Amino acid sequence: MKQDLIIAIDGHSSTGKSSMSKLLAKQLGYTHIDSGAMYRTVTLFAFQNDLIENNQVLVDQLVPRLDEILIEFRYNADNNCNETYLNGVNVEEEIRGLQVSSMVSPIAVIPEVRDYCVALQQKMGVNKRIVMDGRDIGTTVFPNADIKIFITASAEIRAKRRFLEYEREGKTIPFDEVLANVIERDHIDSTREYSPLRKADDAILLDNSNLNLEETVAAALKIIQEHN
Ligand code: DC
Repeated sequence: MKQDLIIAIDGHSSTGKSSMSKLLAKQLGYTHIDSGAMYRTVTLFAFQNDLIENNQVLVDQLVPRLDEILIEFRYNADNNCNETYLNGVNVEEEIRGLQVSSMVSPIAVIPEVRDYCVALQQKMGVNKRIVMDGRDIGTTVFPNADIKIFITASAEIRAKRRFLEYEREGKTIPFDEVLANVIERDHIDSTREYSPLRKADDAILLDNSNLNLEETVAAALKIIQEHN
C-alpha cells in the first residue's frame, strides 16, 4: 500500500462513519478528523451566544463572528481519541447532544460557515495520512483524495442505531422523533444549494445496513487495498 494517503469517507448521518473512520485510522496509523464535529462546534457557539432564536439561525450576526471560533482537536491518550475543543474548552460531549444535532444542518448550509470549516479541513490535510469523514470530503474538501468511500444504510436502521446510542447514554427519546430527525437531516444535507451531500463519481459505495462496526471497517480496508 502507498504510504501517505488522504482517505475521504462521506455518507449519510448515523451510518457509523465516524466510529468506523476512527478505527480505520487507528489500524493504518493515520489521524482521524471528524469534519462534522466542526459544524457541530459552530452550532454550539451559536447557541452559547444567543445566535439562534425560535429555531432560526441569526445568520447576519453569526457570520461576522466566525473568526471568534477557534476549533481544535486534541488527542486524549486515556480513550485514544481526538476530542473537540472550542476556544480552549473541551466540548466533545456537548456537541453530540440533541440540541446541537437539531440545529446543525441549518448551520451547515451557510456558505460562509462551510468556507470556514473547509479551509480548516484542508489545512489539516497538508501532511496527508488522514482519514477524514463528512459529507463533502470527496467532492469539495479533497476532490483528489486517494481513496473515497461513500457509506449509506437505510433510514430506519440508522435511526435505530442512534436511538440505542441515546438509550446507552440514559436519554429516552421517542424512536419516531429520532427517525424524523434522521430523515430531515438527510433532506437538508442533500438538497442544500452549496456543497450538498453527494457521492463523488469516483467514490466506492459501501452499504452497511447489515454490517456491524468491525465488518464495516473490514469492508473499508478491503476497498483501500483493492483501490490503492
Ligand atoms: O456527521 P455529523 O452527524 O456529525 O454531521 C453533523 C452535521 O454537519 C450534519 O447535518 C451534516 C453536516 N456536515 C456537513 O455538512 N459537511 C461535512 N463535511 C460534515 C458534516
